[in-house]
Amino acid sequence: MSKIYILGSGAMAKAMAHGLKNSGFSVVLVSREKIDFSTSTELLDGVENELYENSFDIEGKDIILAFKPYALDEVAKKLSGKAKKVLSVLARTDLEAVKAAVKSADYAICMPNLAAAKNASITPFLGDESLSKIISGFGKAVKMASKSEFDAAGIISGCAPAFLALVAEALVNGAIRGGVRAKDANKLVSGLFDSVRVLLASSHPALLKESICSPAGTTIEGVAKLEEKGVRSAFIEAVAASLNKQKG
Ligand SMILES: NC(=O)c1ccc[n+]([C@@H]2O[C@H](COP(=O)([O-])OP(=O)(O)OC[C@H]3O[C@@H](n4cnc5c(N)ncnc54)[C@H](OP(=O)(O)O)[C@@H]3O)[C@@H](O)[C@H]2O)c1
Repeated sequence: MSKIYILGSGAMAKAMAHGLKNSGFSVVLVSREKIDFSTSTELLDGVENELYENSFDIEGKDIILAFKPYALDEVAKKLSGKAKKVLSVLARTDLEAVKAAVKSADYAICMPNLAAAKNASITPFLGDESLSKIISGFGKAVKMASKSEFDAAGIISGCAPAFLALVAEALVNGAIRGGVRAKDANKLVSGLFDSVRVLLASSHPALLKESICSPAGTTIEGVAKLEEKGVRSAFIEAVAASLNKQKG
């Protein structure tokens, strides 16, 4: 069983630990303080915990960097040896910065989301193909060809879950306004995302929309209202705003 060392013990580290464990990896969370697994929302039985204070030997290991991005230099100083593979999930930290900070044979940077815990993250990555097996332990891995492509893709996997949470919340509000009880509205909207996921797997979004809108029907009325409110442009601009912030 392949062993992975995750440096960090926050929300993302635990989500990846859970996903990798489900995918058959042996996982060690490496943290500054002992982890209280009893308070974790993730099912982390079988995941080990090692502590590091001033040093951690990475020689020949597969490691994932999952602490706050500003701590890269501070943590890197504590690492000794040369890793086999280094995967960074640190936001706003490019491949060159990771290569300069940590010694390894192979490298990749990636941008997963918290669905990694359920092996359902869509995760763009940039770097060595050899890292794709680990990244696939979070869900689906998508290799990007350039830094600019990776940066934009990271907004979709990393930020867009929050954009869609806003859409989900608004649809729940709409359903309640129409007379559905809150509990049922939440169930309906959550199921709706499952339905759309399945439909999008075999259909382009524009064709999916067209197939649902009948002439002079109810759906096209709603679509026309969304267009009137500039929803499409709002999402395109939201991606651009997050990308600008990421750059800097
Ligand atoms: N959350 C997401 O959806 C998401 C998605 C993609 C990528 N990421 C990336 O994942 C990384 C972790 O994010 P998170 O959401 O898991 O944050 P988090 O829950 O706040 O956890 C932060 C982690 O960083 C560690 N840390 C903070 N300062 C440190 C320092 N000076 N030295 C060593 N460790 C330090 C913390 O250790 P202590 O507990 O000891 O303080 C903790 O384990 C970030 O780089 C973020 O960009 C997050």
